[in-house]
Amino acid sequence: MPPPVLVVTTLLPAAAQQRLDELPNVEVRQHRGLSHAELLAAVADADGLLCILSDAISRDVAQAGAGRLKVVSTVSVGYDHVDTAALRAHGIRLGYTPDVLTDATADTTVLLALLAARRAKEALAVVASGQGRGFSLSHNLGTQFTGKTLGIVGLGRIGLATALRLLPFGFARVVYSAPRAQDAHARAVGAQHVALDQLLAEADLVCVCCPLNADTRGLFDSRAFAQMKPSAILVNSARGAIVDQGDLLAALDAGQLAHAALDVTVPEPLPPNHPLVLHPRCTILPHIGSATIETRTAMANLAIDNAVAGMLGFPLSAEVPL
Ligand code: DGY
Repeated sequence: MPPPVLVVTTLLPAAAQQRLDELPNVEVRQHRGLSHAELLAAVADADGLLCILSDAISRDVAQAGAGRLKVVSTVSVGYDHVDTAALRAHGIRLGYTPDVLTDATADTTVLLALLAARRAKEALAVVASGQGRGFSLSHNLGTQFTGKTLGIVGLGRIGLATALRLLPFGFARVVYSAPRAQDAHARAVGAQHVALDQLLAEADLVCVCCPLNADTRGLFDSRAFAQMKPSAILVNSARGAIVDQGDLLAALDAGQLAHAALDVTVPEPLPPNHPLVLHPRCTILPHIGSATIETRTAMANLAIDNAVAGMLGFPLSAEVPL
């Protein structure tokens, strides 16, 4: 019998790439980025697809693979780029990479919070401009977290890891919003479950740690920003589409919040002349939440495991129930 065919849409981190190169009894067809049309053609005679979050796994991809494709294995914890109903309809399983990226993503969320609180973007611009005048008691004053209220939107694995990292900075209180109470996680950080409106009104630092879905798309819009404290900081390390970027720009300009720090945007990357990129009170990173050697290697290895297991009909190490 010919070996199963695994289509891989991109290069993997070095150690995982070596493992992929040496994978026994699998025909690996690896690409360095595929157009949507190329992806459709590639899955038509594949048993497995290993992809990343910038590959749109839409209904037509599922249809193109139907009959032969057994598994889609995404190297990400988020799977909003996947049409899960279409996979289910065609009996295609979905693997993903939870847990292994929790620490790195929470680290990035804290990084963004500190960059925003200490107005690092403005400070770095002073250095780069050569216009700095040395030490001053009054220039570039930021804020600190001691005694403040931390608000976490979505107290799942990453929300919890973020709260655990931020608590030692001296927050007096933690509130969280989520569709359902997360009692065990809440107990671990002494967090109170509140409605989003209350969180927005009370939090000094708001960290978005929830998945993108129909309920969270555009959650941070003009109505949400109008409820925030003018001194508050918004950090989004989840998905760009949770924040309405036009409304964010207007809210920053109107002084409805102090700073937004984003690891994720729509599109990625934003053009360099985008008003949010140029805004002194908006810090943007290029979706590097999980971008450490250790984490990306672990994600890619887990995705390989999921792909191989799925092609062979075995249980996946991490499977999205469809
Ligand atoms: C994910 O995995 O969903 C992150 O956004 C990328 O690490």
